[in-house]
Amino acid sequence: MERKMIGTPLSANATKVMLLGSGELGKEVIIALQRLGVEVIAVDRYANAPGHQVAHHAYTIDMTDAAALKALVHEVKPHYIVPEIEALNTEALAEIEASGVTVVPTVRAVQLTMNREGIRRLAAEELALPTSPYAFARSEAELQAAIDGGIGYPCFIKPTMSSSGKGQSRITDASEVNAAWAYAASGGRVNQGVVIVEGQIDFDYEITLLTVRANNADGQIATYFCAPIGHVQKQGDYVESWQPQAMHPQALINAQTIAKKVTDALGGQGLFGVELFVKGEQVWFSEVSPRPHDTGMVTMCTQRLNEFELHARAILGLPVDVAQREVGASAVIYGGADTHALEYHGLEAAMSVPNSDIRLFGKPESFVRRRMGVALATAADVDTARDLAKQAAARVTPTKSA
Ligand SMILES: Nc1ncnc2c1ncn2[C@@H]1O[C@H](COP(=O)(O)OP(=O)(O)O)[C@@H](O)[C@H]1O
Ligand SMILES: [Mg+2]
Repeated sequence: MERKMIGTPLSANATKVMLLGSGELGKEVIIALQRLGVEVIAVDRYANAPGHQVAHHAYTIDMTDAAALKALVHEVKPHYIVPEIEALNTEALAEIEASGVTVVPTVRAVQLTMNREGIRRLAAEELALPTSPYAFARSEAELQAAIDGGIGYPCFIKPTMSSSGKGQSRITDASEVNAAWAYAASGGRVNQGVVIVEGQIDFDYEITLLTVRANNADGQIATYFCAPIGHVQKQGDYVESWQPQAMHPQALINAQTIAKKVTDALGGQGLFGVELFVKGEQVWFSEVSPRPHDTGMVTMCTQRLNEFELHARAILGLPVDVAQREVGASAVIYGGADTHALEYHGLEAAMSVPNSDIRLFGKPESFVRRRMGVALATAADVDTARDLAKQAAARVTPTKSA
């Protein structure tokens, strides 16, 4: 149900967008929509989520519960639904989509990407894109057989339904299979019991290629690529990212070709984060988010329109501009403690780092390894920007309130 105009919020003609999931990425999408005069409904599983704090309306529901999801959509009547997380009831979303509400980018894309089996079979088997060698296993014995049958060591074992490194391990030896199986079985969500095992790709670096499907001036869907984002992952979670990642020209062409194929196959309108491994000119597809990507937070300091603004525009059928205007980097700020209502100290020192900025997400509850904020920095070159972002992040000291 694309609308050719934007109405006035909180009036009968308001253009209404509902976010399913309102964490730090949702919060920024909401801010981008607010700037365009869109009425925003933020939904999350817990109260006072980051996006709740900046939306017109905030709801707390279990988004895996079909009845709860359908009842809320019926009450609020959004024109667009924007999933920010993977743990959603997709059968309910399919019904909602069939009733004429646009689910971004499409319910099929949301379904395929929330399950590693769906997206991997699409990419490797239907689209014939290069990927790591892989197999699916439903028991420890099947897992061992898959490794012995050709995947080999080192390999990665991941629940098929998981994100942010949850339940994921890298093993180098048969003695570790038992623990990896048990960890995957405990770390997955919804449909537990199926794991993917992937052979390790010996890459030089990995990137996120932010890819936008948006209307061009003629109203046709076109594909746009942001400059590649390099990143470092620890325990399956991003700790640092930068833009641009320098690439061999042929590797960039290969990366864009893969991203175009996979996003064409997923369809709809919006921004996608295509994760790729690169070695020399060679590129492998890893996975894709049909929404803004955590590593893409760096675009808040590097691009004319950041990834959240690009997503907002693409969703609404408006033209985009993916131009980069600064070289920059981001570094994650962790909570460092399991507690409620953190206090953030050291901000004067952090913000004294040249060309830096700090974003605090305002999450009500902190965990030792929970992402609570991000530092951003620009510089003449990537190495300097990375140093500045890391310095600024390190100077923020989250503290338990007395
Ligand atoms: N087959 C692989 N070869 C090499 N590195 C891998 C492989 N699979 C995962 N990784 C590493 O682990 C990170 C997280 O894996 P990913 O599949 O993206 O999980 P998540 O969905 O939790 O982000 C990747 O960004 C990469 O650094
Ligand atoms: Mg990933």
